[in-house]
Amino acid sequence: MSGFVYIKTFGCQMNERDSEIMEHLLGQAGYVTTEVMEEADLVILNTCSIRAKAEQKVFSLLGHLRQLKEKKERKNKPLFIGVAGCVAQQEGERIIRRMPHVNIVVGTQQFYHLPDMLGRLQRGESTSEVATDLSSSFAIPALQEMTSPPAPSQFRKFVTIMQGCNNYCSYCVVPETRGREISRPVRDILEEVEKLVSAGVREITLLGQNVNSYGRTNQVASQDVTFSDLLRLVARTPGLERLRFTTSNPKDLSTELMRCFAEIDILCPQFHLPVQSGSNRILARMNRKYTRELYLERVADLRSFRPDIALTTDVIVGFPGESEADFEQTMDLLREVRYHGSFSFKYSDRPGTRSSGFDDKVPEEVKKERLARFQELQDEISLERNTEYVGKTVDIMVESIGREGISGRTTTNHIVHCPPLPGVGPGDTVPVRVVQAGKHSLKGDFVGPQLEAGGRK
Ligand code: 5AD
Ligand code: SF4
Repeated sequence: MSGFVYIKTFGCQMNERDSEIMEHLLGQAGYVTTEVMEEADLVILNTCSIRAKAEQKVFSLLGHLRQLKEKKERKNKPLFIGVAGCVAQQEGERIIRRMPHVNIVVGTQQFYHLPDMLGRLQRGESTSEVATDLSSSFAIPALQEMTSPPAPSQFRKFVTIMQGCNNYCSYCVVPETRGREISRPVRDILEEVEKLVSAGVREITLLGQNVNSYGRTNQVASQDVTFSDLLRLVARTPGLERLRFTTSNPKDLSTELMRCFAEIDILCPQFHLPVQSGSNRILARMNRKYTRELYLERVADLRSFRPDIALTTDVIVGFPGESEADFEQTMDLLREVRYHGSFSFKYSDRPGTRSSGFDDKVPEEVKKERLARFQELQDEISLERNTEYVGKTVDIMVESIGREGISGRTTTNHIVHCPPLPGVGPGDTVPVRVVQAGKHSLKGDFVGPQLEAGGRK
């Protein structure tokens, strides 16, 4: 096998990590990655189905790819098209029935077999390949062996620690698309982290749909390690400078985990804690299994362990049955917690979810108007929050260097734009004084001895 592969990734960080693994496996099979879709011999779309809009984007790109395929075939150049990820998992064979120019449909637990599937297509043993088995006995393979050495500019990496979800929030497709929750063995995770850090990676984000329940769904029966234990073990990796994780369900947030923020020095003071709604009635209908009061208690506890922690959240507006009073409670909660930032979405019906069967849907216009109100308030609060950093000195890890200046991220995950500074490279940590705040980012100036020393710390 040989040729160029173009991979387009939609959705969350889990998909980004899966795309890296696909790229690695296809690389071993002789495919070279290209950034130019038109020159590819194989195009893989790694898809997301969390909201209808995400799925629509996939189908419209597939429509465009049909034309590209026809154009290439007229020049006698075959183009294989593959759909991977959550839409592939959910729609399976239906994708090929609707779009016969698609050659491969590969689900979230099957993409490790992509090279074999391609081999069969290329040898003419089949004209299409579909693999969407989702098994409760699935074991996450040894991903550390499917990890390419990071490029010198890649100093931040994601490491998958678990897959799937057992929570069944009534609006969510993830249990359908990612299957039952399964944890990866500690040994594999540590091996992958060590491998990455010894190759120059300085920041690791541990990934799972619900990291708080890590270890409760063991792959290895003899393993008795909680998520907090795992954090402590990963944090011991020599050379690792920053550690983050995502995502957590508030109902499983233990005191043990909160204590990690006080005790693990490289654990960044940043927490993404999706609340979804501020109304207990809606939370119950969402099957979130916590109340507004419990959530607020956890927020207070987190702040007592780590007063400088920056909190972010996810919110759904216009969930079926959400009244104006329910929505006002979400607005109230936003005023009370004063999140540093949030991701907010209009409720979207997803096939197979419980809420798609609820009959008291909120009209699109109302959803739109509530979303705008929520985002306006969040923007105000984000600006106020960001203004709190003005005058403070913070460490940024440099991400990008351009002619206009340097951008980096604080431990609280804020982006800071600074003037150019010679001698500073991606991944370097440098202190900056914040001089200005915007809604979505900060502006800073370099301070301290690195200026005289020519940059590097
Ligand atoms: N409609 C709208 N938003 C959704 N999310 C998940 N499912 C839906 C849905 N059906 C949002 C939640 C989740 C984030 C990743 O996407 O807020 O936390
Ligand atoms: Fe999208 Fe959820 Fe799948 Fe991630 S796990 S790609 S957010 S549907």
